[in-house]
Amino acid sequence: MEPDGRAVAPRLPRFNPFQPGFRANPYPAYTALRTHNPVHQSLGRWVVTRHTDVRRLMMDRTLSVGHVPATLRALAERNGDLTAGRVLEFAEKSIVFTDGAEHRRLRKAVSPFFSPAALSALRKTFADLCGEIVVGLLAHGGEIDIVEAFAQAVPDRLLGHLFALDDKGVGDVRRGTGIIRKLLEPRAASGAEIEEAVASLDTVLAAFARGRQRLGDDRNAGPGMMLRLLDGLGQSGGPLQAAETELMAVMVYVAGLETTAGLIANACLALAEHPGEQRVLRRDPARAEAVVRETLRHEAPLQLTMRTAVAPIVMPEVTIPEGATILLCLGSANRDEEAYEEPNRFLVDRAGPPHLAFGTGLHACLGAVLAQLEAEAAVTVLVGAAELERAGDGELDWSARSTLLRMPERLPMTLRHVS
Ligand code: HEM
Repeated sequence: MEPDGRAVAPRLPRFNPFQPGFRANPYPAYTALRTHNPVHQSLGRWVVTRHTDVRRLMMDRTLSVGHVPATLRALAERNGDLTAGRVLEFAEKSIVFTDGAEHRRLRKAVSPFFSPAALSALRKTFADLCGEIVVGLLAHGGEIDIVEAFAQAVPDRLLGHLFALDDKGVGDVRRGTGIIRKLLEPRAASGAEIEEAVASLDTVLAAFARGRQRLGDDRNAGPGMMLRLLDGLGQSGGPLQAAETELMAVMVYVAGLETTAGLIANACLALAEHPGEQRVLRRDPARAEAVVRETLRHEAPLQLTMRTAVAPIVMPEVTIPEGATILLCLGSANRDEEAYEEPNRFLVDRAGPPHLAFGTGLHACLGAVLAQLEAEAAVTVLVGAAELERAGDGELDWSARSTLLRMPERLPMTLRHVS
């Protein structure tokens, strides 16, 4: 009670990814937000947490994705900073941050490469490459960090194959795109981070140039397939300029490397915690699709994405004002009890609406089919060869590298051969 006898208004929960325990387990905080404060302002952003609201805003064509170029533009203008200008050009031309007709043009040019039909030829290649990695793991024996040794190694190797990278190229592109990806974090990038990103862009482009010298002949699934297809779009008479195909290649990596590593790591953890599911998957490899789908719902590798309101948005409880930056909480939407029964349980056969781990609408993940193929090959081959068991009962260090990405930093496991 206030001194004058009025009831004290209860303090509503607010989104705060820095509060103790949030990184380890954000889901209780998300449940409280969905229940008591589903759309609210926090840390200078508007935060949206319910499945129905997140989905609706992703489908709303009037929202803009131009927040990162806008921030970089302001920075470049304020500091007269030419370095920021170079990264700005990259951001402004990127499919992820363009709206309207420009986005439609870029998306139309590359979509055919990412369809199930175009990618199905890769299934066998991916299984073979995963098989080579698993043979190495089993030969190693003992305790391994499944994140570094497998979850990261698989997309490194598979995307490396699509871009004809050698081992040095794989390492350069992994480090370089990891640095560029930091520009996508919800906080504004520092001057030093921008300088580092520019240097990394050059390193990554140099690795692709070396890849071009190693292109294979097999157009469907051979080494360098993706690089060759993208380059083809930039040749004279093609729908893109050569510089745009370069940026597209970088974007494929920035958007698709660590996210897929997260998906595979999270799937390995779920399988280790559900040995019955391992046995079912071993008997029936077709089960991999459902295992990967439920992993994407249960532990969305990309937890947040952003939009800008170009006009006021009327929500059931409140109106989001024009100009607001909006955080769409995919990880919360996927655990919404209004959408899924027992949302916190990993249930491979569950019903409910499609998860939002790949987003939806005009900017829905371009690489969704590719990421699923990679993850399905990874878990099928690994579980086909070995029983996964967590080693030790230490707490996992979640989301250490980013507020956006949800995956354990390390995941010690033992692998036991199955006959
Ligand atoms: C498990 C792995 C992945 C996850 C969880 C994921 C998640 C997402 C999400 C949520 C979006 C929508 C963002 C938004 O609307 O603001 C997105 C967009 C995108 N993703 Fe992925 N992604 C994954 C893998 C990949 C891969 C492998 C590629 C590369 C081929 C890729 C390329 C892209 C691109 C280019 C976009 C932007 C599409 C556009 O703006 O039109 N992603 N991704």
